[in-house]
Amino acid sequence: MEWKPDKSLQVPIYIQISDYFEARIRNGEYPSGSSLPSERVLAAQLGVNRSTIVSAYDQLNSLGIVNRIKGFGTVVSPTPTGEGHMKRVPDWEEYVKGGFLRLNDPITRQIHKIVGSDKPYINFAIGELSADLFPVTLLQEAHNRLEISQYLGYEHIQGNYKLRESIANHLRTHRNIVSSASSVLVTSGAQQALQLIIQCLLKPGDAVAIEDPSYCYSLPIFHSAGLRTYRLPVEQEGIDPEQVESLYKQHRVKMVFVNPIYHNPTGTTLSYERRKRLLDISTKYGIAIVEDDPYSLTSYDQRSESTLKSLDQDGSVLYVSSLSKMISSGLRIGWIAGPQSVITRLTDAKQQLDFGHANIPQWIAAQLLASAELDNHLTKLKIGLRHKLELTMRTLRAELGDEVRFHEPAGGIHLWCELAREWDVQRLFNHAIQAGVVFTPGSTLGSQARYVRLTYSKVDDSSIVEGIRKFAAAYRESKQDRKVQLLTPHD
Ligand SMILES: Cc1ncc(COP(=O)(O)O)c(C=O)c1O
Repeated sequence: MEWKPDKSLQVPIYIQISDYFEARIRNGEYPSGSSLPSERVLAAQLGVNRSTIVSAYDQLNSLGIVNRIKGFGTVVSPTPTGEGHMKRVPDWEEYVKGGFLRLNDPITRQIHKIVGSDKPYINFAIGELSADLFPVTLLQEAHNRLEISQYLGYEHIQGNYKLRESIANHLRTHRNIVSSASSVLVTSGAQQALQLIIQCLLKPGDAVAIEDPSYCYSLPIFHSAGLRTYRLPVEQEGIDPEQVESLYKQHRVKMVFVNPIYHNPTGTTLSYERRKRLLDISTKYGIAIVEDDPYSLTSYDQRSESTLKSLDQDGSVLYVSSLSKMISSGLRIGWIAGPQSVITRLTDAKQQLDFGHANIPQWIAAQLLASAELDNHLTKLKIGLRHKLELTMRTLRAELGDEVRFHEPAGGIHLWCELAREWDVQRLFNHAIQAGVVFTPGSTLGSQARYVRLTYSKVDDSSIVEGIRKFAAAYRESKQDRKVQLLTPHD
């Protein structure tokens, strides 16, 4: 719980707690019949004695707002407004089961709850940069130059013109992609770009191919849209384009979603030959390709990998990227570059969704992308990421030897680890959480259940060794559990 009573106030703590819950009950956050948190749990969350919670709940009870039911807990009364007549409150529990967008899978929800809590977990689960990798000085300088009065109105729905120009220039200079301000749509991260493509260009029943494992797999948006998804296993050289052809012949796949360079989660790169072949197959059958490319500028050596879009002579590729993995995820700046008709259609949808992206982050992003210092930042970023990767791999090898196997990625932010044998990853996950470290189980990213993803980019250098040691200790504990389980005779 984010709210905490303020000990510096004159108002007794139990009254603050009672007032807090009264307000939440009256505004409908706790409808009639719902339970307040147990006394023990709430006392721990707020860091107060249980007796303080008892007094707060007794106070609400005396106001007729809740009923204290022995053995059941504290339940919001049918007439919490105390007006003496029954009211019919909408059944929010039923409402939340409906809706178009499906829920995230339970582990993903658990991860977001954990990393959003105020407990200091060592976070190998979330794909973003650590504070020391953000270009803070550049961002601060841009922010200082901002003339706020000019950026308080709505912006062009397609995105701030200067930003779109900077994106088009950046695509030309850094990714060898030809585009223009009019063929770019600014989105709220690459995530919204994917969502817009799915919602506007596909219809229920359409078949699409996604990589397995894949970041896409963690997104329920494909299933919410009623699409049939077919998986393309990711090998060391990326997906096999021949499988796209056979999926087309069998299921008429309309679109292929790929993250070809420093893939999330495997860190692999689709080989040049396979990139070319994928484009050939796409143009042979008219299959659209969505290239999701947040990582290509994080190469750890001097190599620069050609994006599919840069090789695309025929306009088959919709190119998606964002600033999240190279400048800041909090700006929420992403984009799509593609054919004019697609950009116009998606812009129309963006107007319906959010009336265009927030103005100030767009202005800051335009400054950063146009800055002469950007290349220096990218060089530092790659050195910083490589250092984190090496620390992670070295500590994993020292702690777990060949119990855990991985390929060293040549860029990106994720290490995809294969556990020695069939493993109860949920058990490992629970042990890790108890030890104060969180990672992403492979099952949330695809069908390979005995893998785990360790995302090293967000963890401070000083915490990586400690985090991996905790992870290794959790691994050993879950191994011990397994032995006990195997030795215990079954009924
Ligand atoms: C491959 C890939 N695509 C898209 C995203 C979404 O990122 P954002 O919306 O922050 O740009 C991520 C985030 O981790 C990712 O790994």
